[in-house]
Amino acid sequence: MTAGSRLPEGSYDAVWASPGRVNLIGEHTDYNDGFVLPFALPHSTVVAARRRAEPGWTVTSEQTGETVAFQDEKVEGWAAYVAGIVWVLREAGHDVPPADLWITSDVPFGAGLSSSAAIECATMAVLVDLIRASGGADLPMQLRPRLAQRAENEYVGAPTGIMDQAASTLCRAGHALFLDCRSLATEQVPFDVAEAGLAVLVIDSKAPHAHVTSEYAARRRSCEDAAKLLGVTALRDVDVAGLDDALAQLDDEVMRRRVRHVVTEDQRVLDTVAALRAGNLRAVGSLMTASHESMRDDYEITVPQVDTAVRVALEHGAYGARMTGGGFGGCVLALVNEDEHESIAAAVREAFAANGFAPPDSFVVTPSAGTRKISR
Ligand code: GLA
Repeated sequence: MTAGSRLPEGSYDAVWASPGRVNLIGEHTDYNDGFVLPFALPHSTVVAARRRAEPGWTVTSEQTGETVAFQDEKVEGWAAYVAGIVWVLREAGHDVPPADLWITSDVPFGAGLSSSAAIECATMAVLVDLIRASGGADLPMQLRPRLAQRAENEYVGAPTGIMDQAASTLCRAGHALFLDCRSLATEQVPFDVAEAGLAVLVIDSKAPHAHVTSEYAARRRSCEDAAKLLGVTALRDVDVAGLDDALAQLDDEVMRRRVRHVVTEDQRVLDTVAALRAGNLRAVGSLMTASHESMRDDYEITVPQVDTAVRVALEHGAYGARMTGGGFGGCVLALVNEDEHESIAAAVREAFAANGFAPPDSFVVTPSAGTRKISR
């Protein structure tokens, strides 16, 4: 069943779907102007719209059953992701037609799979469709991620980078999206795991996301402070060859570790892209594991649940495993043989039970399509 099939019956003026994402590699590099390599999940958020005669907008969530109405007032809670997109489109000079919106999603919430970016990007797609239908200008897909990120940063108030909105908008089925977060240049890199006899297993650690917003902001600040001290625009401007020199210029040990993560992580993205272009999918595994170790030891954003999931997956035959997303909980990705995902998931469940952790969820994902129109 797709999320769209749960919309109320009737006709709509526009229906669009945007997916959640996982990030294959390149964590906390986006706000450092670096590289990321996400792919879209089969799970998506669907937003449907009907024009209305009265001014303002309403949005009804299938999940919460609530309807929120708004015009110019500030909206809080889940509906802020919708109201933020109306706000940012108007800020950018678009005349957004009044509309009733419905929203339904099968992207797990609070699992670090970008359920909020999926809402933002699907909302933007339906509103752009309504704007176009009423004679307004189009907004090319390539320009949408920046605007959706601005809604998240300035309206919702979360200081995130551009990865999630770019992934939800621009990803293609069967591919990972290689994104340069400075130039916003993209390359669709083929990532056909099934053809290689592999599978990507997602393990949702279900670990409670404590302090995620403040810790995320602290990491970001530390990177920006380091860039200033090093006299560069962003940590993207330090490469692995220059890392030791850069570290020697920094007195603070914590800051040195943060810089080492970002600089080596950018290189791991480049190495992963090279391995995928060469059709060497199994080589991606060790890069994923190195990324996890860097997040655990240098960036200090993992928690015992995700470290356990990674360790147990590797012990049971995964080629590589890492936490994906902002951290402090969320999901682990493991690159595994196609016929081993069930045994690996079972081993992780057992280890969680033995450690007294809440039971994890797990599912296999294939790289799926980004934002797309749904016909109803
Ligand atoms: C969250 C943010 C992204 C990115 C990741 C970490 O998902 O929304 O912009 O910074 O964390 O890679």
